[in-house]
Amino acid sequence: MYALKVKKTLAQKKLLELKEKEVFNYDYRIKRQGEFVYLPVSKKIRGAIETELIKTKRKKSLKETFGIGSFDLIGTSIVVSIPPKLKKQKKQIGALALELYPKVTAVYMKASSVSGKYRVPKLELIAGKGGVANHIENGIRLKLDPRKAYFSPRQSSERKKLTKFVGKGDRVMVFFAGIGPIPIYFSKFTKASFIVALEINPDAIKYMKENLAFNKCENVVALCGDVKKLHARFHSFDLVILPLPKSSLDFVDEARSVLSKSGRAIFYVASTKNELKEKLKKLTGFKVEKIRREIEISPNEYRFVVHARKI
Ligand SMILES: C[S@@+](CC[C@H](N)C(=O)[O-])C[C@H]1O[C@@H](n2cnc3c(N)ncnc32)[C@H](O)[C@@H]1O
Repeated sequence: MYALKVKKTLAQKKLLELKEKEVFNYDYRIKRQGEFVYLPVSKKIRGAIETELIKTKRKKSLKETFGIGSFDLIGTSIVVSIPPKLKKQKKQIGALALELYPKVTAVYMKASSVSGKYRVPKLELIAGKGGVANHIENGIRLKLDPRKAYFSPRQSSERKKLTKFVGKGDRVMVFFAGIGPIPIYFSKFTKASFIVALEINPDAIKYMKENLAFNKCENVVALCGDVKKLHARFHSFDLVILPLPKSSLDFVDEARSVLSKSGRAIFYVASTKNELKEKLKKLTGFKVEKIRREIEISPNEYRFVVHARKI
């Protein structure tokens, strides 16, 4: 067996390097002997020596077994994208995921990306028992069936960032609120006085109401319906959030009409770098104050966070 013999003080750093270079051998245990540590490696890299190591009893990860390096863990559910060449092995992939994550009760394969008005991906159950997933994020509990309503655990840090833009006593409107993570963050982590959340998907609203009650968010009102219609009931808000990147700019008039004089809006916008300027011409009646490039959502296409003020 090959291992890299390093001083104890350097072991942590070297271990990370080996993992990054994908040469750390997870099948063997790290050996500690006096001042030295032996890090198992999968091939004879520079500096590696031959030594006796003990085998681990660990099960191999999805990455090691099938080359699947990422998936979404939504509470008690896993949602995984499986490349076409591995589709025949979907049952084995599901079974391994259940074994590796004992708290998980359902494993779904993404059969399509998010689509349609409700932005829900098509999910196929490949292992376990489908149903409600209980997710915990920053101390907040969220319930949902991922087959019925949109939710992405990858956006938790973005949700936390958003809370910085809510001022004391602000009246906040959240368009496209889904199962409620943004209004719940605002209710728990800001001094907003009143929050209204609008959502068109009846299943998402059902979960949002349960999530609001469970997290004791008493200053949030959730309404089911189309923003195009519901917005007309509201005015004089300080801030409106539009988390619908593919079409938030189709709701500029609605955003403006719910805001007070000099009210602020945060638009999430999907765009290439080159097209963004042209797209933002739709922001009539607003002055753009800040633009942040959040993440790449497909090759060359980014999600931008556009902060604008009503003029
Ligand atoms: C990308 S998801 C965002 C959900 C949520 N903000 C979150 O962070 O999890 C967009 C949501 O907007 C809802 N939606 C789409 N068009 C709508 C409309 N015209 N009026 C109200 N809600 C809409 C969809 O049903 C979906 O739940």
